[in-house]
Amino acid sequence: MMQPTAIAYFLSLCGFLSAATVNVTFNNLQELLSTALNDIQNNVDANLNTLELIRKAGYPAEAHVVLTEDGYLLTIHRIPGGENSPVVFLQHCLLCSSAIWVIIGKGKALPYKLADQGYDVWLGNFRGNTYSRAHISLSPSPSNAKFWDFSFDEMGTYDLPAMISYVTYLTSKPVHTYIGYSMGTTTFYVMAVKRPEVAKMVRMMISLAPAAFVGNLSGGLRLIIPFANSIEAILRFLGINEFLPKNSVLLYLARVGCNVDLFTQQICGIIVFLINGFNDEQFDYPLLPMLLAHFPSGTSVKTIAHFVQGVSSNKFRAYDYGREKNMQIYNATIPPDYDLSRITVPIALMYGTNDLITPEKDVEKLRNSLTNIVEYYRVPYPKFNHFDFLLAKDAPTLVFEKVLEIIKNKVN
Ligand SMILES: *[C@@H]1O[C@H](CO)[C@@H](O)[C@H](O)[C@H]1NC(C)=O
Ligand SMILES: *[C@@H]1O[C@H](CO)[C@@H](O)[C@H](O)[C@H]1NC(C)=O
Repeated sequence: MMQPTAIAYFLSLCGFLSAATVNVTFNNLQELLSTALNDIQNNVDANLNTLELIRKAGYPAEAHVVLTEDGYLLTIHRIPGGENSPVVFLQHCLLCSSAIWVIIGKGKALPYKLADQGYDVWLGNFRGNTYSRAHISLSPSPSNAKFWDFSFDEMGTYDLPAMISYVTYLTSKPVHTYIGYSMGTTTFYVMAVKRPEVAKMVRMMISLAPAAFVGNLSGGLRLIIPFANSIEAILRFLGINEFLPKNSVLLYLARVGCNVDLFTQQICGIIVFLINGFNDEQFDYPLLPMLLAHFPSGTSVKTIAHFVQGVSSNKFRAYDYGREKNMQIYNATIPPDYDLSRITVPIALMYGTNDLITPEKDVEKLRNSLTNIVEYYRVPYPKFNHFDFLLAKDAPTLVFEKVLEIIKNKVN
């Protein structure tokens, strides 16, 4: 049982830590981890949830519970605007929660900047994460395969429609702008293809690090792709359907006494080296405790598996159940592509040139598949990577200013 889980922990942990460790020795890494762990235990901020973080930054905050057609209960967050405020809806990345948008803090985070400019800001939370681990009849226990039987397809088919319908109903307004980050874009495209009647309620969409085609994913994550099927099979065999819930990395570190031994160091070293593409200059060290307290926030093993399929197939298509079951479900041996040409919502694409997870080649392919691109923006910083979009020191100037400009000018 330790093996696959431990591997998963290492990968996730190293992935994030590599942001901070490119120029740091492993003695420093050990120190950094201990400090981070202590900070989280003693640091009030790291223990705050999204609502508390927003309030502490001096903004009003609300939580709303939304029921999906298939019975999931999603808790979404809001920084309410005035009666005439246009609605902006933000949707988080894989293994993230609404907290990821605000951890870079007051005066910097995108939701605060939007609120300052008078928008009504909503932060979604997908099924399976810390805030949406609930269902009207199913228990979210990791061994309950039924609860965890979803991928980003269901998030796009059920969660986004439920959240967007709720917000438009409550505010009696369309969503002025939907901003997705990484999986928050994937799921939007799925929704726009499968639920066009809901997509019509959104006037514009901004994609940060767009993730539809992922066939050109490179770096350390690429290395586990050949083993992904085996890891998934083992996890299923062990009855583990939930992937990296909140605090799993912290609990793991605490359990090993945060003793980063030689073996761990070597694994981390290899992975950090292979992931490279990380941007040391833009990583803000004091964010580490906050980051580890809010990432990962949990998802289903099936969601990870669906992304892995996309890397192998180089296609953006429905979940692959294998030939026989595909036949029963799709009436075809191969799962159907998500037909991006059906999307009519105006879309802005923003990408980084040093992004190994959603690299330029794949974003370019997406661009060629969409018919209504209103902006194609390369972040003007050569080392900009996947995580920099929300976490980089210069994200406010390199990304958020552009986002605000697009929101202001493209939709009337
Ligand atoms: C990378 O993207 C290009 C263009 O979409 C595609 O032809 C190629 O097969 C991709 N590479 C891999 C390794 O999938
Ligand atoms: C299944 O696919 C076949 C061949 O493409 C088609 O003739 C048939 O009508 C389809 N059946 C259903 C129920 O869609």
